[in-house]
Amino acid sequence: MIPGVPGESQVYLNGEFLRVDEAKISVLDRGFIFGDGIYEVVPVYHGNAFRMAEHLNRLDRSLAALRITQPFDRAGWINLIEELLARTNLDTCIVYLQVTRGVAKRDHQFPATPVTPTVFGMISPWSPPPAAQRTQGLTAISIPDERWLHCEIKSVSLLGNVLAKQQAVDAQADEVVQFRDGFLTEGSSTNIWVASGGKLLAPPKNNLILEGIRYGLMGELAAEAGIPFESRPISQEEVLQADELMLSSATKEVLPIVTLDGKPVGTGKPGPVFEQLRAGYDARIAAL
Ligand code: PDD
Repeated sequence: MIPGVPGESQVYLNGEFLRVDEAKISVLDRGFIFGDGIYEVVPVYHGNAFRMAEHLNRLDRSLAALRITQPFDRAGWINLIEELLARTNLDTCIVYLQVTRGVAKRDHQFPATPVTPTVFGMISPWSPPPAAQRTQGLTAISIPDERWLHCEIKSVSLLGNVLAKQQAVDAQADEVVQFRDGFLTEGSSTNIWVASGGKLLAPPKNNLILEGIRYGLMGELAAEAGIPFESRPISQEEVLQADELMLSSATKEVLPIVTLDGKPVGTGKPGPVFEQLRAGYDARIAAL
């Protein structure tokens, strides 16, 4: 038994569909030994994967960045997702995909003879965040960003993110807001958004943040709502003086952050920029 995971959950591993407790990988898998792999998290609403093409594009970019052989073409990935969904009775859920470089003798450099990547897929139960989180908002603490300099790769080497999230938990907060050299980067597993003077601000897309699939979407939603959007470096001071703060991710969707380090953000309540973006997000999901 794996605590918290129903034994009958179906997963995909290297060509086979198995019960989660039957799926085993080698102890020499480079994902296990070195964190040498990538992943994706795709939300599914009523059987419809949301922004699947964008998620699969990012998966391609992550594989290319690590020079891991692409195990499937686009149709192959879509077939795998559809097959996993067909094998579950959950219609609103998360599809988790992971590819590692594969199994090889333990040596840091890539194996000289190419190995077959390990491909793993799983459906996890998930419900969209409850209404109370939208109306009451979340809490966050600011911390220095101590991660590596390739945060744009959706790598399974997540130790910096894990330690950051645990700092939030230890402080009884919902998320961290990370700063590198005095400028906003992102949360432990979310992108962070600032509303200031009626504008929506986000840090630039570069190696210091993961370009969330909601990053592009928030830009579209802001344009639709007539909210000016600026992607530029945001100082810690600007964050502390923000009218509103928000976070976004596949699993958290878009949620307001109403306190930072125990102090209210703006009015301390979800603000008008959040409400407009949230309405746009809901409309996109309803249209699926
Ligand atoms: N995390 N930044 C980081 C570091 C993330 O891990 C995530 C997502 C995001 C938001 O990306 P997206 O909008 O594509 O979900 C930003 C996922 C949900 C996870 O690791 O579970």
